[in-house]
Amino acid sequence: MNLKTLYAVLLGSTMSVASLSAQRIHQTLEKDWRFTRADDPASMRLDFNDRKWESVRVPHDWAIYGPFSFDNDKQHLAITQDGQKEAMEHAGRTGGLPFVGVGWYRRSLELPSDLSGKRVKLIFDGAMSQARVYVNGQEVGYWPYGYNSFYLDITPYVHAGGKNVVAVRLENKHESSRWYPGAGLYRNVHLEITNDIHIAHWGNQVQTPIIEEEYARVEVRTVVRNLSTLGQGEIDVITSLIDPSGRVVYKTGASGYFSQHNRDSVYRGHLIAPKPKLWDIKQPHLYKYAIELRQGDKLLDSDTTTFGIRSIKMVQNEGFYLNGRKVKFQGVCLHHDQGPLGAVVNEASYRRQIRIMQDMGVNAIRTSHNMPAPEFVRLCDEMGMMVMAESFDSWRIPKVPNGYNLYWDDWYEKDLVNLLHQFRNSPSVVMWCIGNEVSEQWHPDGSKRAYTLQNICHREDPTRPVTNGMDSPLSVIKNGMAAVMEVPGFNYRPHLYDTAHRVLPQGFILGSETASTLSSRGVYKFPVERKSMAKYPDHQASSYDVEHCGWSNLPEDDWIRHDDLPWAMGEFIWTGFDYIGEPTPYYSDWPSHSSLFGAVDLAGIPKDRFYLYRSHWNKEASTLHILPHWTWPGREGQVTPIFVYTSYPEAELFINGKSQGKLKKDPSIGIDATENDEDKKNFTRQKRYRLMWLNTKYEPGVVQVVAYGKDGRSAEIKEIRTAGKPDRLELVVDRREIKADGKDIAFVTVRLVDKDGNLIPNDQRLINFKVKGAGRFRAAASGNPASLDLFHEPQHHLFSGMLTALVESGERAGEITFTASAKGVKSASITIRTK
Ligand code: GAL
Repeated sequence: MNLKTLYAVLLGSTMSVASLSAQRIHQTLEKDWRFTRADDPASMRLDFNDRKWESVRVPHDWAIYGPFSFDNDKQHLAITQDGQKEAMEHAGRTGGLPFVGVGWYRRSLELPSDLSGKRVKLIFDGAMSQARVYVNGQEVGYWPYGYNSFYLDITPYVHAGGKNVVAVRLENKHESSRWYPGAGLYRNVHLEITNDIHIAHWGNQVQTPIIEEEYARVEVRTVVRNLSTLGQGEIDVITSLIDPSGRVVYKTGASGYFSQHNRDSVYRGHLIAPKPKLWDIKQPHLYKYAIELRQGDKLLDSDTTTFGIRSIKMVQNEGFYLNGRKVKFQGVCLHHDQGPLGAVVNEASYRRQIRIMQDMGVNAIRTSHNMPAPEFVRLCDEMGMMVMAESFDSWRIPKVPNGYNLYWDDWYEKDLVNLLHQFRNSPSVVMWCIGNEVSEQWHPDGSKRAYTLQNICHREDPTRPVTNGMDSPLSVIKNGMAAVMEVPGFNYRPHLYDTAHRVLPQGFILGSETASTLSSRGVYKFPVERKSMAKYPDHQASSYDVEHCGWSNLPEDDWIRHDDLPWAMGEFIWTGFDYIGEPTPYYSDWPSHSSLFGAVDLAGIPKDRFYLYRSHWNKEASTLHILPHWTWPGREGQVTPIFVYTSYPEAELFINGKSQGKLKKDPSIGIDATENDEDKKNFTRQKRYRLMWLNTKYEPGVVQVVAYGKDGRSAEIKEIRTAGKPDRLELVVDRREIKADGKDIAFVTVRLVDKDGNLIPNDQRLINFKVKGAGRFRAAASGNPASLDLFHEPQHHLFSGMLTALVESGERAGEITFTASAKGVKSASITIRTK
């Protein structure tokens, strides 16, 4: 039920619906912005002429359009976390994109002619970074941290009925980030007008302390803000509870009051949800809490808050429980960037990302290492994905010279509080994370600082546990930081979990960051050997999933612990998707400029590793995946191992009809016996989870795998074939119908295939895109971490035979025709409807 219908239900015909909903005006400021990278201080002025500036739509990332350059934010330093002792050149660390420097945005605000008794607010979901906001020439606020949401009361600066202009100056410093941060108004900006007696921003808090089968008790707390000239007064407070089907299931009327001028008062109430439907990763039921403040006949304000009824708890020696059921985190760390879209918020892109992760079997996302966009958390609420919401990558001691350390003293509490207030009603958020591998791990004040931050979390939200991603278990055991944390979160070093569990009081360990396995989609290196920090002339890593960083490991090194140790709470792998920046281990190896960590590449195309995780994590669907591809001209007769990632326990492999033998996963392989170099080299742990035919020889033809179920009967068959000559392009679109709202996106996978539809696995040819009709070309990406193709140009090289093109809707309903073409092969077209 929408708000208007709700009012109609609650209040019958006593008041018109239109006048009620007019109490709060909300507008997302997307269109009509002007933008420049010239830094003229006069840009703040009301009468400044910005007609020559670029017209842009917000969310907007000024840096994603490139060009890429070795010189963009070239950092000369030692990454001490990665074990570097001497300063060296890091060219692609932050993506090689031009985000450093100043950008200005301007836009006019249309305001009602009468604003008496009203308050006007601007809300920024995130502005990268050091936002200085001006209204009609006057500075109205400053917010340095680019990842946080903040709001500004601009009432004293606006002209009711007159011309109003907002101008925003942003500035990103050199050496301020460890990855691509994006630039500009990359998240939404909103205008909100309320009465001067109103519900404070993020002023509603909902908790569900009692959850029984028959009922749940819903405790609500609403902050009423009086910015009028009136002294204290009485109000009627009407609250209602709306169940997931849209029915009002509980309603209360109470009297409350507002405090004197410039003060807040708090309304507390209790509601009952009969036979509650729980929010769960299996089915994410959502409730709404609606509140109205009335004075006699006058509606002062109204608001609705979406929340969920669900319980979480941590049990010593057992771990994490959701709704009374033990759940291990099958989590991924995700950066905020959306690959070819840069940092901009886009719902279609988020939705696709969450869907792909859910298909992999992921049940939780860590928003590493900063505050997520509100759209992202809302989608996690709606789609049943748990979230670990993070705040900082560094505290007071810097990791990069111009990082958050510059703002720490004045801002950490404000930043943390905004995160907590913004998301504390979201059922998907099950844990707060106060930091990532902060340098305070080695500082005597480390535990004190962690304690302070954790206490702020508990003060603002007593319902969720707090963790901290720590990568130096021995130092944080020593300086007390690990013992202070409600949930000790360890990054990497799973071999120290046991030691930590023995000496720490909590009785459980979270793998807050794990794996950092490296691979490039469709690239295979021979011989197949486990390697640390391996580099190759092509700037890629092997997709046999046997390579990792100096501090990290292979997926199985984590699984074996989370499977066998009851108190190991599960993990958040680094990372679900590739992201821009951090091309480890290619630190100084331009043009490497995006990561190789993802189970899914920057184009959103699964790597082999996606299927490895899927085979272990996704219990709802079967997985049977063969690697590598089988087109190796020149490798005839050479050892070319074949791996099968499967949810089945056993399989038999055939090359051109000849059996290569049956292999069975070996569940008896344990942790301790395999914690040595020999077993690492021999892939012993892998044999518990993957099927590996290590001595197969290449001959062109067909590779077939027959999987057997637990009952020993053949259950599924898969084949891959040697590809012939490149013949045509093939297109697969994720959605054939998208919204005609000017921002919805269809993701088209472009594949180069032979005449029988086999992927040409090593082709890198240039693809041209044409979009006609009711939409436009938006961007493309191939997943090649060393490609300098610009994302927004309507041509892009394939990587391992594939890429993804993004097609954006216009605002008129109709049909979009997308065509991909390339030299020497047949082109392909697809139509997408917009509605
Ligand atoms: C971790 C860090 C991540 C990323 C990762 C790469 O130490 O928390 O942000 O840098 O290493 O392996």
